[in-house]
Amino acid sequence: MSQKFLEIVVTSPSNIALVKYWGKHHGQLPFNPSLSMTLSKAKSILKITMFPVANSRLDDHFEYFFEGKKELNFQSKVLKFLKTHGDHFPNVLKHKLVFHGENTFPHSSGIASSASSFSALAYALMVAENYLLFQKTPIQSEFKNTMDHHQLQQISHLGRMGSGSACRSIFPGFVSWGEVNVDQLDHEFQKNSWNNLFATPVNSLVDDRFKSWCDTIFIVSDELKKVSSSEGHELMNTHPFRNERIQNANRRWVQLMECLQNYRVMDFCDLVESEALELHAMMMTSTPNYLLMKPLSLEVIQLVRSFREDYNVPVCFTLDAGPNVHILYPREIFHQLEQSLFPKLESLSSKLYRIDDELGNGPQLISMNDQRFV
Ligand code: PMV
Repeated sequence: MSQKFLEIVVTSPSNIALVKYWGKHHGQLPFNPSLSMTLSKAKSILKITMFPVANSRLDDHFEYFFEGKKELNFQSKVLKFLKTHGDHFPNVLKHKLVFHGENTFPHSSGIASSASSFSALAYALMVAENYLLFQKTPIQSEFKNTMDHHQLQQISHLGRMGSGSACRSIFPGFVSWGEVNVDQLDHEFQKNSWNNLFATPVNSLVDDRFKSWCDTIFIVSDELKKVSSSEGHELMNTHPFRNERIQNANRRWVQLMECLQNYRVMDFCDLVESEALELHAMMMTSTPNYLLMKPLSLEVIQLVRSFREDYNVPVCFTLDAGPNVHILYPREIFHQLEQSLFPKLESLSSKLYRIDDELGNGPQLISMNDQRFV
């Protein structure tokens, strides 16, 4: 007799922060507001196979595979997530759950793999729960996966509980997360209720020309990083520059929003680079201190800056918590970069390779295969 199951496949992208989330309170609440670009090609693909079982005991009925292999570290994080937030997915939890995850980029190397993985997880679970509520009988009808804004906020909220930055990957384009604390907020920005619980897309406040911006990621190293982001957040609790960092991030959030609104590209470049360097400065000045940049990261950074100065074009770098360098620029200069800057960077080391990414639309349902009634 063939086994009955429901299988769902989703994808969810990574995002690159322009203003970095660094440091958190209990309950995954950020010390400061952050602002990001949702990516398109750097993403996680997650398949969940659900087998109906009589007694659903999560511990016995749960497996997580990453790129075909059992991944116990992530498995325990997902299990914890399901145990804590399972009340949002009561129908999903009536099944044995087998997860298969993979990324289109090296994980734990400073591309926000936790952002794409946890946003994919929260999204897939919510789609599955909606589907199970909808399709309780074998009678065929068409399931339309339409999520309203409120549901996306709920998914963003849940994704945040797995990994803070995951809450931003749920929305397309430019996305903000966290309360903004500055004395004089620009009038237009005040209309929004920025909050710590879930992310908010800010595309309506962004000049259309920014919507063609791209992110070419230069992979300097795909080794596992030595200090995780969770440890990095924790070190901010006792960091000597904690208060200054929080103030700077709030101020830069407002300045960057102004640049996005008015297409002030050169100021945008300066601010984005200051944020990236400050994030790494926090790592270098914590106790214990640590360094995630590699000599090659610095060489890439220097060449990006020289290129901007020599050609007076808007191109800048940013870094996540890792050595890889994200290069941001408008699509219309891609060919110029491909002809002059990228070959120079690629000649620095045969190990360097790049992912040409761009702004993306957030998570997507790829397929649903319902074999429960066969
Ligand atoms: O979401 P976490 O806990 O993996 O932290 C991400 C922190 C940074 O990637 C360094 C910055 C950010 O805002 O994405």
